[in-house]
Amino acid sequence: MKQFFLCHLLCVALLTAQAQCVTPTETALSSCLTKAGVRNIVDTDKSWAQETTPFQLRLKPDPAVIAFPTTRDQIAAALRCAVDNHAKVSCIGGDHSFAAFAFGKPGTLAINLGAFNRIVSFKEGEKGLFTFEGGIRVGPAAKWLWDNHGRHFPHVRAGHVGLTGSACGGGFGSTTRFLGTTLDTIEEVEYMAYNGTVIKATTSTNSDVVWGTKGGGPSLGVILTMTIRTWKPTFQRAVNFTLDVGDVDLEVGTKALLTLQDYALTQAPDEWAIRWKLTSPPFSGVGYYYGDPAKFDQIMQPLMLKMPSGTKLTKDEYDFFQLDSYVAPGLDQPNGGDSPGRAFYVQSLTLTADKPFTHDLATTLYKYTTYAFKREDMKKSGYLDLWGGTTRNIKDTESAFIHGNNLWLIRWQADAVKNWPADGVDYLKNQMLPFEKALRDAGYPLRGYVNYPDTQLTPPEWKERLYDGNFDRLQDIKRSIDPMGVFTSHDQSIPV
Ligand SMILES: Cc1cc2nc3c(=O)[nH]c(=O)nc-3n(C[C@H](O)[C@H](O)[C@H](O)COP(=O)(O)OP(=O)(O)OC[C@H]3O[C@@H](n4cnc5c(N)ncnc54)[C@H](O)[C@@H]3O)c2cc1C
Ligand SMILES: *[C@@H]1O[C@H](CO)[C@@H](O)[C@H](O)[C@H]1NC(C)=O
Ligand SMILES: *[C@@H]1O[C@H](CO)[C@@H](O)[C@H](O)[C@H]1NC(C)=O
Repeated sequence: MKQFFLCHLLCVALLTAQAQCVTPTETALSSCLTKAGVRNIVDTDKSWAQETTPFQLRLKPDPAVIAFPTTRDQIAAALRCAVDNHAKVSCIGGDHSFAAFAFGKPGTLAINLGAFNRIVSFKEGEKGLFTFEGGIRVGPAAKWLWDNHGRHFPHVRAGHVGLTGSACGGGFGSTTRFLGTTLDTIEEVEYMAYNGTVIKATTSTNSDVVWGTKGGGPSLGVILTMTIRTWKPTFQRAVNFTLDVGDVDLEVGTKALLTLQDYALTQAPDEWAIRWKLTSPPFSGVGYYYGDPAKFDQIMQPLMLKMPSGTKLTKDEYDFFQLDSYVAPGLDQPNGGDSPGRAFYVQSLTLTADKPFTHDLATTLYKYTTYAFKREDMKKSGYLDLWGGTTRNIKDTESAFIHGNNLWLIRWQADAVKNWPADGVDYLKNQMLPFEKALRDAGYPLRGYVNYPDTQLTPPEWKERLYDGNFDRLQDIKRSIDPMGVFTSHDQSIPV
């Protein structure tokens, strides 16, 4: 940072050639890349500000150099330059990390994978194996698969998000209850390791690497291609609905949540999804149903009988892909559309089906987050995404990221109205502490979500919340594929 300011002072004072603003490591890295024929930029380049602006505007990344390889040989050359200059490496996929992880810590060589955005192959069959390059976004991949094969894979709710990045950290969407997250559909991954060697991992060869990818992929190498399972919708049309309890008091709102939870645990078909708002009151949520649209009213009946009186249910019905494009804006747009960045801070926790919300826990969560939120300079946002469904059959040990038997994905966040307030992070962090304490007091483990990384967690905290008992195995895999820790480039990368 100091160096950065000095540099700029020097520049302004001397009005000299811009090259003088670049540190010796940056110069060495950049000239190594240039010599190898890899286009790259340093912080004096006029596109620097744009190329280093993350989706997460609260953070200001400061990588050493950004490389734009267009071939595998160029990626290998870039890795050689990084190793020779003792620089860490991170990949820029869709640049939608909530923690700007794509850029690494200051001094990192960030490799922009924008040129690696092709569809590689699709194999007909039950699994419908779909292979794409590591820099593709969710939108173009989902649209190609739909247009050409009428198939779908579970994905995040924005077309512009990177598919590989979101798959490595989860990829929770409206079909997750019955199809899993994108992560759960990963079958094969092809990495380029730090030394330029290409490593192919499948569920039978190098299966440890596939296991580690599911939660720790970005720490292992450059993902060149990924192969996932896909699914053909059973019904051509699907339902979206809004469930609105209204502006009721906390007690009624809490009961509504517990009623939803009970329905989810006992009667809801797995093809039923709901995203319940945590910004209540009013208490409401939006949902989806991928079973037979004609049966929707019938499956909702037992729930509606138990929801607080006055609860309103409205529904619509669309062709599958049209609804999918509503779920994930940009899905049907060129390159997944565009999503402008925001300055925000997110925290996430998950609950498992065997340790669900109790009345006390739900009240505590509402009371200290949404009810206590009194700010004009930030806008609150938060969701309780119903997980459950087929995760009941997943064991924590099946992937590096622990999510076995997950029932709820809890997300609490606020976005800057204008500039991010200096006390914003502490304010929001303090709002979650009472709920975390209540969980611990109830004997619940604290579990988190890789794709919603909490930047304030200490290493012991994120290790426990994201990987827990899987951490040592993940670290062993890391050591075998990236022994020098070249890809340990951000605060929640797996260390060697
Ligand atoms: C508007 C928006 C909506 C979202 N909606 C959802 C949602 O509905 N559900 C959900 O689960 N998440 C959601 N997310 C979170 C998102 O899944 C994560 O931020 C994800 O990490 C983004 O991946 P990316 O490639 O776009 O981002 P990046 O910042 O480019 O990458 C994220 C991480 O993956 C690494 N990486 C990316 N590509 C590669 C590669 N080819 N090889 C090696 N490492 C790679 C990066 O180095 C970085 O560490 C959303 C995010 C945004 C901004
Ligand atoms: C269904 O989705 C569409 C498109 O986003 C939206 O306009 C409509 O209000 C939704 N319907 C319900 C009942 O929520
Ligand atoms: C490169 O590293 C990988 C992973 O550690 C290793 O398997 C491979 O043998 C190495 N290749 C060379 C040429 O040293």
